[in-house]
Amino acid sequence: MTTQKIATLGLNGQTYEFPVITGTIGPEVIDIRSLYGKTNAFTFDPGFMSTASCRSSITYIDGDKGELLYRGYPIEQLAVNCDYLETCYLLKNGELPTKIEYEEFVGTVRQHTMVHEQLTRLYQGFRRDAHPMAILVGMVGSLSAYYQDSLDINNPEHRAVAAMRLIAKMPTIAAMAYKYTIGEPFMYPRNDLDYAGNFLHMMFATPCEKYEPNPVLSRALDRILILHADHEQNASTSTVRLSGSSGANPFACIAAGIACLWGPAHGGANEACLKMLDDIQKNGGVAKIGEFIEKVKDKNSNVKLMGFGHRVYKNYDPRAKLMRETCHEVLHELGLQNDPLFKLAMELERIALEDDYFVSRKLYPNVDFYSGIVQKAMGIPVSLFTGIFAMARTIGWIAQWNEMIGDTEQKIGRPRQLYTGAPRRDVRPMPLRT
Ligand code: CMC
Repeated sequence: MTTQKIATLGLNGQTYEFPVITGTIGPEVIDIRSLYGKTNAFTFDPGFMSTASCRSSITYIDGDKGELLYRGYPIEQLAVNCDYLETCYLLKNGELPTKIEYEEFVGTVRQHTMVHEQLTRLYQGFRRDAHPMAILVGMVGSLSAYYQDSLDINNPEHRAVAAMRLIAKMPTIAAMAYKYTIGEPFMYPRNDLDYAGNFLHMMFATPCEKYEPNPVLSRALDRILILHADHEQNASTSTVRLSGSSGANPFACIAAGIACLWGPAHGGANEACLKMLDDIQKNGGVAKIGEFIEKVKDKNSNVKLMGFGHRVYKNYDPRAKLMRETCHEVLHELGLQNDPLFKLAMELERIALEDDYFVSRKLYPNVDFYSGIVQKAMGIPVSLFTGIFAMARTIGWIAQWNEMIGDTEQKIGRPRQLYTGAPRRDVRPMPLRT
């Protein structure tokens, strides 16, 4: 017989016991759901520094080791041996697909790559200079108006169709956002191409000329998508779960996730990182790194080394290593081996990793440090970097949302607070207020 491990809390002279739960790997969890009922106290954890918000069997991160597993498989193995749609299948269904399962899955994605023709006209309502993330939030949210036959979250068939629609349509919607801002005609998807190749086609082809995606660039984009596909209970995923916990439809939930991802501390970091590198380059390049690092270390400057640091990784982000490799491959393919931004980034990384400020705080490059350089070299505009992150992360959001819907312990997310406002007081008539 195994005995239940217990955590004991002393408060106001009383002792309370709480069960300790263990997962397959990772830290133990103290189940404090009964805390308020027993003690009349809440926990205080802004930023969720020590809070497990759910049970999940999708993604595991060991931040000290620098390890990332999707359904138990190391990211390094998935990045080398699988493609993005295989990874989507894995995240969604829990196992890697057989050949037949893979072909069926890819076939279903292909059936859904086009968007409702009326949706193409919705783009006209945006200013031409709108940020693609503003367009993505709007377009993905609007899918709930166009695909009303897949909104019943209690119907597994509706959930399955909504999931496939989102996976299949995100590249189309993102590429259209780009085409709209540059005034070129939208390109319909080409289902003879793979997922990444089709995205490059929708981005860079025009109706006047034949276009074949470069296989090295397709593979690089596919890897970017794999590396960004899921990342446990990060801010945007938690946003999707919280939105979904009220019973909101999947398109609305994913739109909420995209909105959260946009922020510079999260998915917006790739755009911010490239801008940072560009600024250093314009101000003198490698010679000015020291000056920039001093600014970063000055707490009054509000300047951060973008693409560095992570809430969970206190070691090298394994995705950053793979991204740096991809960076080499893409720059080599395009004859840009001497790309000044790549050289600058590598030198910045070297200097930061020797500096006690970064070493003592365990700040290492994260996935966004190199991803912008790769995407820029591929011709993707900086403003679309976060949109590509959103496209990749859609499967993670869907898998996590699905897991939550099927979780019998799931409740509407409703945190409490430590109230610091005025205690109860009475309203005075206006003439008596001072
Ligand atoms: N540059 C300079 N100092 C930093 C940085 C940075 N990039 N990141 C953290 N620090 C410092 C921070 O000021 C603090 O110092 P002190 O202890 O003296 O106050 C210490 O390191 C701990 O940082 P924190 O802000 O408490 O850490 P956090 O877990 O709340 O924040 C983070 C994590 C990713 C928001 C933060 O590291 C950051 O803003 N990094 C830059 C933005 C970035 O690259 N984001 C992409 C994250 S990976 C992609 C994704 O998942 O979205």
